Formats: sequence, structure tokens, C-alpha cells
Amino acid sequence: MRASYSHQSIENLKAEIDIVEVISNAIQLKKTGANYKACCPFHGEKTPSFVVSPDKQIFKCFGCGVSGDAIEFVKKYYNLDFIEAIEKIAKDKGFTLEKTAYDDSKDVYYKANKDAARYFVRSLLSRHNEAMHYLTDVRKMDIDIITKFGIGYADEKWDSLYNHMAALGYDEKTLSELGLISVNKGRKYDRFRNRVIFPIISTNGRVIGFGGRTLDNQGAKYINSPENPIFHKSNNLFSLNFAREYLRNSDFLIVVEGYMDAIGLYQCGIKNVVATLGTALTENHGKILKRYSKKIVLSYDSDDAGRNAAYKGVDVLRDAGVSVSVLHVDDGKDPDEYVKTHGKEEFLNLVSNAVSGTDYQLRHIARDYDLTTGDGKIGYVKSLSAIFEKLSPVEREVYAQKVGRSLDLDYKNILFQIGNQGKTEASKRIEKTVETGDRNLSTTEKVLFKIFFMDGSYFVKFKEHEFSDGVITTEMGREIFSLIENEISASDGFLDENRIKDAMNPEEGYKIDEIISGVPIVDVESSFVDCMSSARLAELGAKERRILDIIALADEEEEGQEAERLQIKLMKIQKEIKKLRGGVDL
Ligand code: CTP
Ligand code: MN
Repeated sequence: MRASYSHQSIENLKAEIDIVEVISNAIQLKKTGANYKACCPFHGEKTPSFVVSPDKQIFKCFGCGVSGDAIEFVKKYYNLDFIEAIEKIAKDKGFTLEKTAYDDSKDVYYKANKDAARYFVRSLLSRHNEAMHYLTDVRKMDIDIITKFGIGYADEKWDSLYNHMAALGYDEKTLSELGLISVNKGRKYDRFRNRVIFPIISTNGRVIGFGGRTLDNQGAKYINSPENPIFHKSNNLFSLNFAREYLRNSDFLIVVEGYMDAIGLYQCGIKNVVATLGTALTENHGKILKRYSKKIVLSYDSDDAGRNAAYKGVDVLRDAGVSVSVLHVDDGKDPDEYVKTHGKEEFLNLVSNAVSGTDYQLRHIARDYDLTTGDGKIGYVKSLSAIFEKLSPVEREVYAQKVGRSLDLDYKNILFQIGNQGKTEASKRIEKTVETGDRNLSTTEKVLFKIFFMDGSYFVKFKEHEFSDGVITTEMGREIFSLIENEISASDGFLDENRIKDAMNPEEGYKIDEIISGVPIVDVESSFVDCMSSARLAELGAKERRILDIIALADEEEEGQEAERLQIKLMKIQKEIKKLRGGVDL
């Protein structure tokens, strides 16, 4: 198993690393003045332009441009990831990295699950049993798919697994924490009995939990591993370990509800599919999915539960910033059944015809209303604010027009009706983050916002500056800025500070008053110029420091061209700094 090291221990190692020593282990360095030089190991060259600075503990190649610290060098040179690189450095130095106690203690859980998974697989394959009959005959699963997914069988006895695991030396506590056994009045018995077992495998290939499907309809249809140190339902997805291999060839990822659906699609050749673990999609799922694909297609069961779950899933994924669409299986109860009857191509057809998440939500709500009547239309439009408040201004308009067309209503009235209901999503976001982080604005932000409130046209001027990104630096600042941006785009350049206040968390609205009454501005134009100058100065200062560091490494005679280029850049920067300083009157 891969080790995990304590943060402190890594920091201690970093403090002891000497870049010259580390790089010398790999290539021969020659001392020149304060620095060392060599032919760059990362590109072919005959005259050395690879420089190592013991003072700054960095390397830089003036030929190909690579640069970094000692760890970066080891990563690149030996083709290692971060952990492997620090392991190598530690080993070469004879430094002992301290493993984190926490992670070590997880080893036993992973190992136990692996042994249990093996046991279940053996039970399924070793003798004729009901599970094998169910999987192959009833569910038409191929044997190679059964093997690929590591599907197993927990037999009907009360203690088969327990006896097996106890003989391997696992203690009662570990087994019951993993949910493999239950302990009742001192009696231990297997939790999974007479069930098909689906191991849940993490992306790094470890068995983190199990889902057990009933074969005899005794008890719940599924029993799943409980939350435990290595199993978190809201952080994992079934079959992601397989799906990720296929994402290079497809630009979308399908999310289904059931293990059986994921396996069924996989067997038909649709391998970019994952299933949730018996829970609704969570914010964490959103983050994970986004890492693997920017386009998610929800394919849930066709019953009410499935429809409702898809509706909520759209919200979660939209919040996570992925593009989401929803497909509906119009024949059969779930994707597994559909693909078994209609095949891969037909299912992919459904994927192409999947509707956008928002369209899906609009249609879903429409099911509750009779849109042929006036009352029905009114009720429907009123209920749409929950959807619309999550949309950007442009999306709002697009979808209001769509709804307007379908109901034969003017879209402006729809927007008006919705706009008057509920809080905006932006204000909710502020509420969510209110307890966290630093909620103070920087001085520059305060001045800038005051300027916007005094004259909204400065907002546009501000956005025209290419370096405007670096000016808004606090979390609070970003929130107010985006509210201002929305307000300005929604009201044709007009900015009303009261509307910003209304959109904020009530407890923070006073910050706007503070800006209005507490930031003195005599001349808007010159305050704006000052503001932009100091922002530009901060940016130039950072650039200057970066270039000075690199120039310090360069040998002017040998790195002629590159060094000269840097000198010219530096000169320009320093010139601009000087000019700005004069202008800002420091
Ligand atoms: N699930 C669960 N507990 C239950 C029922 C369902 O945890 N009592 C979870 C399982 O992860 C299951 C998913 O919800 O895979 C979807 O449920 P369902 O559609 O009933 O299961 P399938 O795996 O699709 O099985 P089948 O095709 O037999 O319906
Ligand atoms: Mn199902």
C-alpha cells in the first residue's frame, strides 16, 4: 500500500534538502561563482545553460526554460510523483519520513476487505449456487463481466465469512466496523447472507466497501457497507475505477442509480458509466465527476423516485460547474433493462437526445400542472423560481423565452414574476459561506466599490483593464463584485446599492453602508486612476521579483540572449513602476 507521511515530517525533510546535493546525485555540476552549471538533462545541448542556485534553492535552464526546486527536479528527472520524489530524496539522505499514524491504521481495513472480497468471489465461482444462476440466467451477465467486477456471493449461512476472517486473524472490532459482521449480545454473525456481492473499488484499486443484493427478498433489497474509516458513500462512485479508463475516448460520463445499471451498460460496451452508492448525488460527487468529465449525463430509473433524484442531481451538478443533461428511458424500469432489450446503439441514441438539465427540470415541474388552463399556467410559472434563481442572467432570459413560447406568454412577465419571488442564488451562496473565512474587504476593494456606486460606468472601465483580476482579492470582495456584475448586466449599466444590499446576507449588508458613508472620495476619476495604479503596481512588483530571481542565476556571457531578454523585460517593468510611483505620489 502507498504510504502517507505526516505534514511536519515532509516539512522537516524540505528544510534539510540541499538542491546541489540532490541534483549532483543525478548529473555532474560545475561550480561557477555562486552558482553551479551543467548541460541541461531535459533537453539536448552541448554548452551548459542549466543553472543551480544554492542560495535560492532553485534550478533554471536558460535553454529550454524548465525551472523549479529540488523536489521538482527529482520528479522530472526520475519521472516520479510528489510522494515518490520525497521518498527518493529521503532515502538518498538517510532521512526517515514519519508515516501518519492515521493512514497506517487503515491498512488493516483495506486488507480485510480484500480478503473478504476474495472469499465472496471464491464462493460464487467454486460451486453451483443461486447467485450464479441469478446473475447469468436471470440477469444475463457474462462470466467475464462477473469476473471483471469481482462480483461474489455471500452464502446463506450465519458465520461463513466470520469463521474465514477470524481464521485469517482479523479481530471482531475491525470486521464489525467494516460492516462485514454484526455483533449482538456477544454473538457474531455475517451481515451479508444469501446475497450477490458487489465490491466497491476506489480509483486506486482498493476494495473500500460492498453492496449486497438480496437473492431471496429477505430484508432490504440492498445492504451496503456502513460509513467507516475507508468507506464514504458521498465521496465514491461505483465503477469509476473502470470508467476513468474510457473517458479519454468519450466526452461524457453517464451516472446511473444502480450497480446493476452500471454493469449492464458496461457489458453492452458503454463503459463510461458510474453509479452512486445508494445515496443522492452530493456536492463531493459533483467535484469528483467534474474532475473526470465536464459533461455528465444522468440516466436514472423511470419511476418517480428516479425522476426526483434526477431533478435534484441537476442542481448539484450545476452547482459543481459541470454541464448536465438527463436522459429518460422510455421503455423498461431502468437503464439496465433498456439496454438489454434495445442494445447499445439505441441507448446511445437516448444519450444524444438527452435534454439539458434545466429543460429537464422545467418539464419535471410542468408535470404537476395542467398547462391548458390559466390557473395551471400561473401556478407553473410561480413554481419556477426555484429553478431560475440558479441560472445566470443570460440563461434566465433564454429559458424564460422558452417557457414563454410554450405557454404563449410574454417572457418579460415570466421573468418579472420569478424575479419577485425568493432570494437570488447569489444571496444564498453568501449565506452559505458566511461563517467561513475572512469576511473583510481590502481598502482597494472598498474604494473601488464606492467608485462603482458613485458612477456605474467605472465598472465597465475597470473590466477593460487586463490586470483587473488581481484587484479583487478577498472572498467578500469577490462576492460583492459578482453581485455588482449581475446587477449591472440586469439593469442596463445602472447600479443601485440597495439592491446589492438586499441580495446579501442581512448580517453583512452593513458593509455596503460602511462603504457608502465611510470611504471618502472627492474626485471619482482620480480615485479610480489611483486604484488602478496601485493594483498595477502590486502586479508589477511581483513580476519584478520573479525576474530578479531568475536573472540572479544567469551568466550574462553564456546565457546571452535569454539574459538580455530578461534584462529588457525587467527594465520595462522598472520603468513602469517608476512612472506609476510618480503618478500615484508615494
Ligand atoms: N439501494 C440501496 N438500498 C436499497 C435499495 C437500493 O442502497 N434498499 C441502492 C443500490 O446502490 C442500488 C441503487 O440504490 O444499486 C439502485 O436501486 P435499484 O434500482 O433498486 O437497484 P439495481 O442495482 O438497479 O438493481 P435491479 O436492477 O435489480 O433493480
Ligand atoms: Mn434498478
